[in-house]
Amino acid sequence: MIKFVNVTKFYPPQTYALKKVSFHIKPQEFVSIIGQSGAGKSTIIKLLTAEEKVTKGKIVVGGWDITNVKSKEIPTLRRQMGVVFQDFKLLEKKTVFENISFALEVINVSRKKIESTVEQVLKIVGLKEKADYFPLQLSAGEAQRVVVARALVYRPKILIADEPTGNLDPITTRDIVELLVKINDYGTTVLLVTHNREIVNFFKKRVITLDQGNIIGDQFSRGRYVI
Ligand SMILES: Nc1ncnc2c1ncn2[C@@H]1O[C@H](COP(=O)(O)OP(=O)(O)O)[C@@H](O)[C@H]1O
Ligand SMILES: [Mg+2]
Repeated sequence: MIKFVNVTKFYPPQTYALKKVSFHIKPQEFVSIIGQSGAGKSTIIKLLTAEEKVTKGKIVVGGWDITNVKSKEIPTLRRQMGVVFQDFKLLEKKTVFENISFALEVINVSRKKIESTVEQVLKIVGLKEKADYFPLQLSAGEAQRVVVARALVYRPKILIADEPTGNLDPITTRDIVELLVKINDYGTTVLLVTHNREIVNFFKKRVITLDQGNIIGDQFSRGRYVI
């Protein structure tokens, strides 16, 4: 589903954010990428979403070589992935429903289809009852669930979460990670990026460790808190 082959990313004048990084993520895998700040984690995401270009190497997503993806193909590429960022804010003046539906309105989906899709994704994240709430009426964890729901509206094959729990307390963090695991159980490939080693230990899942642009580990977490 995601293949990096000897990917190097150089940011002039002198930073090698990734150095010949190779890994292969299979369909329906749940993979965490961990590493300290500056390790190159977000660079991996930016290359996947074609926000940045590789300096050297090759990237394949769902059988599609996106190494030199054309600008006009980027929207199609991005619709294959749902992305959740830590600082992805909800629009305060829009309801939960509207925060999710506007992503569909911009691509001319019928009203009926919008309503059923929003209802479906809200159900997945367990917030069906809060469709008419405004962001300020939600807890931090609920707000982040809405962000996850919004990332699911295009029914992506891959869900990418870059530090999705950065501002959350431990219990809420665990809640969000459990939600990602549930989405993965439904068949979506999940890529969770975090600097927090603790949270990858919630479950026994594959963990790729990055350090200064190099992969220094690729193994299964202990899953200490398996339910
Ligand atoms: N646009 C950029 N220009 C120059 N350097 C960058 C840019 N983006 C990231 N970097 C550098 O690349 C390295 C990896 O960054 P990043 O992938 O954001 O790390 P992480 O997400 O693991 O904290 C860091 O040294 C960072 O300063
Ligand atoms: Mg980062």
